[in-house]
Amino acid sequence: MVTLLENPFRVGLRQERTPEPLILVIFGASGDLTQRKLVPAVYKMKQERRLPPGLTIVGVARRDWSHDFFREQMRKGIEEFSDGIGNEQLWDDFAQGLFYCRGNMDESESYLKLKAFLEELDGKRGTRGNRVFYLSVSPNFFPPGIKQLGATGMLSDPIKNRIVIEKPFGKDLSSAQVLNRIVQNVCKEEQVYRIDHYLGKETVQNLLVFRFANAIFEPLWNRQFVDNVQITVAETVGVEDRAGYYETSGALRDMLQNHLMQLFCLTAMEPPNALSADSIRNEKVKVLQATHLADLHNLENSAVRGQYKAGWMKGKSVAGYREEPGVNPNSTTPTYVAMKLMIDNWRWKGVPFYLRTGKRLPKKVTEIAIQFKEVPLLIFQSVAHQTNANVLSLRIQPNEGIDLRFEAKMPGSELRTRTVEMDFNYGSSFGMATADAYHRLLLDTMLGDQTLFTRADEVEEAWRVVTPILSAWDGQADPSTVPQYEAGTWEPEEAELLLNRDGRRWRRL
Ligand code: BG6
Repeated sequence: MVTLLENPFRVGLRQERTPEPLILVIFGASGDLTQRKLVPAVYKMKQERRLPPGLTIVGVARRDWSHDFFREQMRKGIEEFSDGIGNEQLWDDFAQGLFYCRGNMDESESYLKLKAFLEELDGKRGTRGNRVFYLSVSPNFFPPGIKQLGATGMLSDPIKNRIVIEKPFGKDLSSAQVLNRIVQNVCKEEQVYRIDHYLGKETVQNLLVFRFANAIFEPLWNRQFVDNVQITVAETVGVEDRAGYYETSGALRDMLQNHLMQLFCLTAMEPPNALSADSIRNEKVKVLQATHLADLHNLENSAVRGQYKAGWMKGKSVAGYREEPGVNPNSTTPTYVAMKLMIDNWRWKGVPFYLRTGKRLPKKVTEIAIQFKEVPLLIFQSVAHQTNANVLSLRIQPNEGIDLRFEAKMPGSELRTRTVEMDFNYGSSFGMATADAYHRLLLDTMLGDQTLFTRADEVEEAWRVVTPILSAWDGQADPSTVPQYEAGTWEPEEAELLLNRDGRRWRRL
């Protein structure tokens, strides 16, 4: 248990500021993300008095909604997925800044209509041409959307106009390069916010503080002391109603290339020179440039995929992936992926980084485990039954915190040892829940802080690392080539083998 001292370390990635009055334009306004996350996050900022009076949201989607209907939907979202409306007067004021503009992302007239509407709102709401365009739509719409925003001049001001692009950014290296070119044709990199909501998580940002605001861990953070690193993002949910998207994506594109790679970068990167967006992103790019699959000649030594079959979750039987609505019964889309990466630099040469993520696993847990080496000589061998190497575990979610496992002498006249834990828990140390990732990321977008967003070269490097695996798997249409694991169990046997071959095991979480 860690207690807060009088003078706690107080560094944010940015100081508290209030954004300029602006219009947040959300494409995909009738979608889940808008109702569950985006608008509730902005409302929360309103409750915290972090918004300027003119802050305006314009939802754009194909459905024929009125402004009032849009407002009702957003209110429902806040009631259902956030802390509720609270003060009705505050809501009324917020709702007056919510508008809806029917539009089709494929049609140029929609953009002209939107442009005229935004100009009209500038006059009424004092937003002075400041815009954030949020593409919360299917990735097929990214290219036409970005091109049209450019063609209609809505991204022409590099200071006042920003664009937020949801993941996945491309589906492999070449498509990400094409998409980056489309973006670069219409705006500058300073205007682009490629979002990865994992970077908005408090515990993910804490990785930087943990590593670079403490002197005692960094000297151990290298090949001399670390045996291996295991990064796990396990989910209990299945594909839910997202088969349309997931079938073309799968665990590698949906989770590993982005969320796990970000956790990987923050764990492995060198200390940045400063806390600026570019210093941090430069270091992330450098570590990615030095990263490669463990064995490029035998890809099965570098990565394993899996797909959940029917099983049991919390006492209920659940369908296998191929039986889920909208999924091809012969689908080869992986719902699980494990990967072994190596980094060719002085700090990490020879230390494997094992990454794994999957759906329908027994537990929802995201963790980064730094497994230290064994002691060079165990002098207690004759008395201790077994000692375990030290593990530092960074618990990203849930039960956010950090624990360090080490050996201790058990009380008594006999010399026996046992593994014990030193535990820091966010909830009990700070006495408050961690904020939703979108809250932080949307605020940063409005403030123009790109630190927690992925740069063009970074996203391409992450794709470069995984593209050989994607190409190999995309070329295998035979469903029998995809290992199966029972829903509610940890992983396919093949994934165990990936580590067993190295004389190691996955952590049981
Ligand atoms: C999303 C993926 O990016 O992240 C989903 O598309 C996944 O498939 C989700 O379920 C997990 O996010 P979190 O924050 O719940 O770990």
